[in-house]
Amino acid sequence: MHFPRFAATIAASCMLALPAWAQQLIASAASPGNVLSVEVQVDGMGKLAYGVKRKGKDIIAPSRLGFNLANAMKLDGGFSLRWQAVSEHDSTWEQPWGERQFVRNHYRELRVDLEQKNRAGRQITVVFRIYDDGVGFRYEFPAQKQLPTTEITDELTEFTVAQPATAWWIPASELPGLEEEIRKAPLKEIGIANTPLTLRLDDGTHIAFHEAALVDYATMWLRKVDGQKLRAMLAPSPSGPAVVRKGAFTTPWRTMQIADDAAGLYMSDLVLNLNEPNKLGDVSWVKPSKFVGVWWQMHLNSGTWNAGPKHAATTANTKKYIDFAAQNGMRGVLVEGWNKGWESDWGHGGADFSFTQPYPDFDLPGLAAYAKSKGVRLIGHHETGANIVAYEKQMDAAYRLYAKLGVDSIKSGYVHEAGTALFTGRDGKPRYGHYDSQEGVRHFVKAVTEAAKYKLSIDTHEPVKDTGLRRTYPNWLTREGARGVEYNAWGNPPNSVDHEAKLVFTRMLSGPMDYTPGVLSLVGADGKTFNSTQAKQLANYVVIYSPIQMAADLPENYEKYPAAFKFIRDVPTDWADTRVLNGAVGNYVTIARKDRASQDWYVGAVTDAQGRSLPLPLDFLDKGKRYTAEIYRDGDQADYRTARRFDLVTETKTVTAADTLQLRLAPGGGQAIRLTPQK
Ligand code: NOJ
Repeated sequence: MHFPRFAATIAASCMLALPAWAQQLIASAASPGNVLSVEVQVDGMGKLAYGVKRKGKDIIAPSRLGFNLANAMKLDGGFSLRWQAVSEHDSTWEQPWGERQFVRNHYRELRVDLEQKNRAGRQITVVFRIYDDGVGFRYEFPAQKQLPTTEITDELTEFTVAQPATAWWIPASELPGLEEEIRKAPLKEIGIANTPLTLRLDDGTHIAFHEAALVDYATMWLRKVDGQKLRAMLAPSPSGPAVVRKGAFTTPWRTMQIADDAAGLYMSDLVLNLNEPNKLGDVSWVKPSKFVGVWWQMHLNSGTWNAGPKHAATTANTKKYIDFAAQNGMRGVLVEGWNKGWESDWGHGGADFSFTQPYPDFDLPGLAAYAKSKGVRLIGHHETGANIVAYEKQMDAAYRLYAKLGVDSIKSGYVHEAGTALFTGRDGKPRYGHYDSQEGVRHFVKAVTEAAKYKLSIDTHEPVKDTGLRRTYPNWLTREGARGVEYNAWGNPPNSVDHEAKLVFTRMLSGPMDYTPGVLSLVGADGKTFNSTQAKQLANYVVIYSPIQMAADLPENYEKYPAAFKFIRDVPTDWADTRVLNGAVGNYVTIARKDRASQDWYVGAVTDAQGRSLPLPLDFLDKGKRYTAEIYRDGDQADYRTARRFDLVTETKTVTAADTLQLRLAPGGGQAIRLTPQK
């Protein structure tokens, strides 16, 4: 619902001439529940700044807005207000799939139209959307003859955090990109960070900085410029200015989720709300589901992607996985290494990959048909080695082939060293660069929109970061974009014991992750062990959200652990509701989710190296109903550091909404629970 706009104009001519240092408030607005407020000001030089208060207290101290341009004078200074307007919006929309079915979008919008009188009247608008749980703002560039093309070298947007804070961050632009271990440090000691960047302020308030709707623009990194101040840093382009746009355009939203605690950050739908609604129409062909894959054996070095004596993607081996999937109610079978090109040094080139020609020992049409006959679908695989130029040449033929065979989803991969992706530059020539650049960002959106034409869904590995575009393109099912379970196979080092408790409040604020959970054997290549108990592997299905979830272990390992495997068979991947019940970044988290297809609830809890006992009030259950709780918990001696990591106890209890369970988590452990209403 849109309320009529009410507006106030302050004619620029009425504004008093200010000394350079003085600040004049030119616009302000508060969130619907008056939790957050935004103030916009100019100084005597006409430089713009905004600030954010929470419950009257500064959260973001006055912080700069503006741009440096390559083709014109900077958009910084000389600004005066043309117009401002505040409106309120409150609606609820339905997700085709997600952490919750219905999402409320309730905000006040503050539009601030600005003019640079000393630059021939150039105009920009800054639009703030102020929610009770966060703020997003973006710049709108109108079509104007003074600036027919905008060439942005720097975005001067700053975020001055008003208190000392602890940051959980990963460095941007470095190897291995989004797959760095998440670091913890005082804010004042961080460098150039990727987003989401999560902070806990000294008074306990939590903030996550990120961006929403990253389309045809360079990715925003955040550079610590001094003390508590972060500045937007646009990923560089190999073709010149970071961003080049013709005519009217808007930037992505710069977002701040702000909450009393870590749990509140994850409960916020700000990033999704700031994205455009679904542009694909009917997306009933997008299928949340579980899958197995010819995959873990390559990471264990017991199979190869390329042809040869250990080739894993053979017809016979794939049939084994199809049969296993069919027997266990899994919809998908991923097959990696099915196509020609793996024998090359593909991580440093990717030019030799064919996306249409299978190896001779892989019967693609026969297997696609066999899978279908069993109610299963093959999941395609396109490893590109980040040779986007070569991939885009084959993309249409490759998508068409899959669609013809009834393969309706693809895992794509962009393995490379950060900064060395090969894509088409602005001059139409192949350029090596960072795929966080405007050109790189364009490719990822193109891959998804082209796939939609063939009703194909995409799971991107080594992706550009998620900015909530799944709302607009619901076939962008999931992605990697952080250290997944594969690091436990390689073991150099494996994922740290607090990894999941960090992920939920950092990377997962951006969207779903193909974490590839469920390795019950807890062992990587050459006997390397995981920093996890078996119960935690189960809890990860609830804690780390993805609409498609892999049962990543080998079928023979699942056969060894039937009691634990039952949870993996049962757990759904699409939810009617989600509640974060407790959590501290990097320490522990408990999440309850309600199945979209039944009345069941599922709970997952994970902890770091410290064992814990967490109370779990069941007041999210329907009152007056009795539920059967199937509990998968760490055994009393379980410990991720010893062979007792396998100690898993399964037990059943009858509970109601009035009960409180006590969750005992072993060091490095977890707990998973299914709650089913009794008849
Ligand atoms: C890295 C991906 O994360 C992994 O899942 C895949 O098996 C390899 N690349 C090969 O494409």
